[in-house]
Amino acid sequence: MASAKKSPPPTPSPFWCRWQAARGLEGSHLTIPDADLGGKWAIITGGNNGIGREAAIRFASCGANIILGCREPPPHEKHPDVTASDCKAAAEAAGHNSSTIKWWHCDMCDLASVEAFARRWLATGHALDILANNAGMGRTASGKLTITTDGFEIVHQVNFLSHVLLTMTLLPSLARAEDPRVVCSTSCMHYLGRFLPRTDANRTAKPTSYSNNKLYFQTWLTELQSRLSANPNLEHISVQGVHPGFVNTGIWTAVKSAEERREGGKGPLGDAVYNFFVSWFGIDAQQGSLAIVRAATAKEYATEKRGGEGGGRYFNRIWPAVPMPQTLDPGCRQEMWDFVGEELGLKDKGLLEMLDAL
Ligand SMILES: NC(=O)c1ccc[n+]([C@@H]2O[C@H](COP(=O)([O-])OP(=O)(O)OC[C@H]3O[C@@H](n4cnc5c(N)ncnc54)[C@H](OP(=O)(O)O)[C@@H]3O)[C@@H](O)[C@H]2O)c1
Repeated sequence: MASAKKSPPPTPSPFWCRWQAARGLEGSHLTIPDADLGGKWAIITGGNNGIGREAAIRFASCGANIILGCREPPPHEKHPDVTASDCKAAAEAAGHNSSTIKWWHCDMCDLASVEAFARRWLATGHALDILANNAGMGRTASGKLTITTDGFEIVHQVNFLSHVLLTMTLLPSLARAEDPRVVCSTSCMHYLGRFLPRTDANRTAKPTSYSNNKLYFQTWLTELQSRLSANPNLEHISVQGVHPGFVNTGIWTAVKSAEERREGGKGPLGDAVYNFFVSWFGIDAQQGSLAIVRAATAKEYATEKRGGEGGGRYFNRIWPAVPMPQTLDPGCRQEMWDFVGEELGLKDKGLLEMLDAL
């Protein structure tokens, strides 16, 4: 039988090569080694799409059991069922046939849903090895201040507050893991943030809300790490903030309300501008996910107690970087800690007791 002759791949033109190099893609294409995650458990918020989805697939191929924390998404977004079966396929392709991979409902716009998700996890009795606090949104299409049913500005709640609540509720489960990692998707946009939690957090619609909340998140996680490190029962938990890179995902498209989607029409002009730039200059979601995967698996991200270089840091993709000074300033960190504790009523919920108990 005559076999089809395969033509060689076309040689890229010198112009194309130079253009790729100028975009930084050649120099920034990363590969990282696989870790053995057999028997480990990982939770990833926003795991159905974008960077979180790619991180989940990689964790699955390394043998992890995974719970994707997702909302029932709007129709135009990838459904968590699809990502869960993609993860299962990746696991099986790598010989991990008995991994547990599921998605559970967790709407970051709704604190009750986040609490229910966390309680459901605690009820399993499993130790939690990896918590990827990844879900996020950019801005709303209307540009108007959107307040959730819990009374918070929507970006503040989805990107930051809900992850604080989730992490604090899951601490007992993280504490039981051997080398637990909490990886928070912050952003280089935190460099554009203004540190005004008490006056601004629930009053700004866009676009500063995104950068401000990434700054708040990086500040809060730094303070959390220092409190964990001071407690012999919790000092092995590593918390890191990672910027995944400039990644071509859905985050650049403004979120429309249900009414706006029904009405149809184009999104705001900003969408076209962002999407043009990210499609030319951005890296893909798989490359973006490596920041999370690396922080969750590589030895150097562990606490000193576990032989690593310590937590509470900020990484530009996989490289340690110096974050905004507020994140390191004891006064700002205390202010952030107190503010978010009050907003979420963490003391009344009993979620500070574990940290306080020495
Ligand atoms: N892309 C970048 O260049 C970049 C740069 C720096 C930092 N980051 C951060 O990386 C993280 C992941 O973003 P991405 O780029 O992968 O964007 P993405 O593709 O838009 O993914 C965002 C994820 O968050 C989920 N999400 C949004 N609102 C939610 C809600 N109310 N409840 C539950 N899940 C919700 C989305 O679920 P649905 O499918 O249901 O909407 C989706 O799974 C974000 O925290 C983002 O701020 C991204």
